[in-house]
Amino acid sequence: MSFKGQHILSVQQFNRDAILDVFRIARQMSPYASRKKRTTVLEGAILGNLFFEPSTRTRVSFGCAFNLLGGEVRETTGMESSALSKGESLYDTARVISSYSDVIAMRHPQAGSVAEFAQGSRVPVLNGGDGANEHPTQALLDLFTIEQELAASSQSIDGMHIAMVGDLKFGRTVHSLSKLLSLYQNVKVILISPSELAMPDEILNALSNAGHQLTITDKLEGNLNADIVYQTRIQEERFPSKEEANRYRGKFRLNQEIYTRHCKSNTVIMHPLPRDSRLEANELDNDLNLNPNLAIFRQADNGILVRMALFALCLGVENQVDKFECAVPWYSNK
Ligand code: NCD
Repeated sequence: MSFKGQHILSVQQFNRDAILDVFRIARQMSPYASRKKRTTVLEGAILGNLFFEPSTRTRVSFGCAFNLLGGEVRETTGMESSALSKGESLYDTARVISSYSDVIAMRHPQAGSVAEFAQGSRVPVLNGGDGANEHPTQALLDLFTIEQELAASSQSIDGMHIAMVGDLKFGRTVHSLSKLLSLYQNVKVILISPSELAMPDEILNALSNAGHQLTITDKLEGNLNADIVYQTRIQEERFPSKEEANRYRGKFRLNQEIYTRHCKSNTVIMHPLPRDSRLEANELDNDLNLNPNLAIFRQADNGILVRMALFALCLGVENQVDKFECAVPWYSNK
């Protein structure tokens, strides 16, 4: 499977072999991400980083991943500051920005928007999240993290037990991750959410067609003794009003006391971030920060490796990264 010149719009473009390739290349990126060495393989290349929805880590990690491969980043953030707010179509924006760039990463609040944009683009487009639909690069980095964390206890994704918690209706990360999990075998999946925020049927079908054992519940207690607990934020920006979102915030909190009572001693805690740390939500308490099984920051770090791998694949340089290697002259304690 070659991704050279291809858009990455959905996790459905990946099979298990392609995932293995991405993960192998991602691991090869580690010395560059940790500044042991540098590569200039993408020197001269330009990433158009277009974020029409709030983002910190996805936007910055796309940019850093591209910089770490030697490329340059041109960025636009927010709908108001772009010509889309003047009525420009996604197609026109894509035609123009794709002639300025070698590859584009894009986030937009509407489901399907990134695919629509890609139709006007002459360069590969990577979906950085399109509404509640998909977030393929996040799902790949989540799966990469799951594989890495489980390997520490000699477990694999096949046969694992995962609990997904929170806003499963609007959370695009759990949608994409679930679609990827349907490529694996014998996964036990517990979906914990208020019934109004349950996982969409399309995703449930993908999980059950894969033969996975599914439990759907609105109770946290008794359902957390999984290998992985994947917590999410109530996606308040997708609700008709803030008041409506507030009805669900704070319903499923995870803190050290609940962890000790309900999780296994080595349950790995994940969250795509940002965690909503305001008192009324606080879905993942700071008192878990010293818990060695809290993988959220390792997960965010892995975003760099996986996005570097995806850029290298789309631009067809995955086998040349080390040919353009050079030393790091500055102090780095990574
Ligand atoms: C997620 C997103 O934007 O879908 N964040 C991310 O990209 N890491 C999850 C969220 O915003 O809650």
